[in-house]
Amino acid sequence: MARIGVLTGGGDCPGLNPVIRAVVRRSHMAGHTVIGIKNGWKGMVENDTMPLGLDAVSGILPKGGTILGTSRTNPYKKEGDVEKVKDSFKKMELDALVAVGGQDTLGVAAKLTKDGLPHIVGVPKTIDNDLSSTDYTFGFDTAVNVAMECIDRLHTTAESHHRIIVAEVMGRHAGWIALEAGIAGGADVILIPEIPIDIEEVCSILKKRHGRGKLFSIVVVAEGAQFKEGGMVLQEQKLDSFGHVRLGGIGDALGAEIEKRTGFETRVSVLGHIQRGGSPTAFDRVLGTRFGVKAVELVLNKKFGRMVALSGIKIIDVPLEDAVKALKTADMELYDIAKVFFG
Ligand code: F6P
Repeated sequence: MARIGVLTGGGDCPGLNPVIRAVVRRSHMAGHTVIGIKNGWKGMVENDTMPLGLDAVSGILPKGGTILGTSRTNPYKKEGDVEKVKDSFKKMELDALVAVGGQDTLGVAAKLTKDGLPHIVGVPKTIDNDLSSTDYTFGFDTAVNVAMECIDRLHTTAESHHRIIVAEVMGRHAGWIALEAGIAGGADVILIPEIPIDIEEVCSILKKRHGRGKLFSIVVVAEGAQFKEGGMVLQEQKLDSFGHVRLGGIGDALGAEIEKRTGFETRVSVLGHIQRGGSPTAFDRVLGTRFGVKAVELVLNKKFGRMVALSGIKIIDVPLEDAVKALKTADMELYDIAKVFFG
């Protein structure tokens, strides 16, 4: 009988609990035990666990967040922490570890695989959808649907008041949420981190729209988008343990600039963590479930150092290190489609 650990790290997202449930159910089916590691890599550093029997995962499928808790702890940041992770692996008497996370959490998993902890399998999660080697990460679909609904709501108030509304959505380095929620919500301009903002062009699109009698507009901007002539708008300079700054503020900066240059009354709405909370969509529940089941099957087949992934409609597995090599930025062909509807 094997002992399988499971942890969830980085920003939470809807779909984590379906993965945990699937890992436990599939392991139990094969007669194995699952140990829950609390709060991502922090739990491995601190040897902090909880039992994960069938009862613990009963009823969690529709719940957002993660019953294990999460953190942005990076054991490679503090001297001695990697050794503590390895010690905990032994103390917990684990045979394998399923790490569920994005670029940062799985980056640690890929490094550990090379540094003497080879029995790891990765599961890709992030609302940003920016992990390579998988067509989709779970959490993204829910975030897009939440953002789309918000854009729908902003539309009715923007139209009634003849205003521009700037909707700032998440997306640190990749504009996937802005792009898909923007297309689905009928945005008049979509601005993403991959393409520097040309404020002149944005204003001329909005003026042209006004010119044809449309006195309201919705501008969707990803939090990581930057002006052509300036740097990123930051909330604070402090870096987290993976070296990320806290973003936010581009919506306000953009709204002010649009109002100044066009004279159109403008409001800004920052959707923030609303996009990460709440119940997962059916797509994310199914994807999380398929990923969780496949992760255990990789463990049972001793296929370590791999990450489960979606390719078309199939669940496959890919080398962990390939998945974290480079970020998957937004598809420019999709952006060209979005542009048809600008203005
Ligand atoms: O990585 C996912 C993400 O939601 C990003 O889109 C966003 O920049 C970041 O996490 C926010 O992190 P935090 O929850 O630490 O504020």
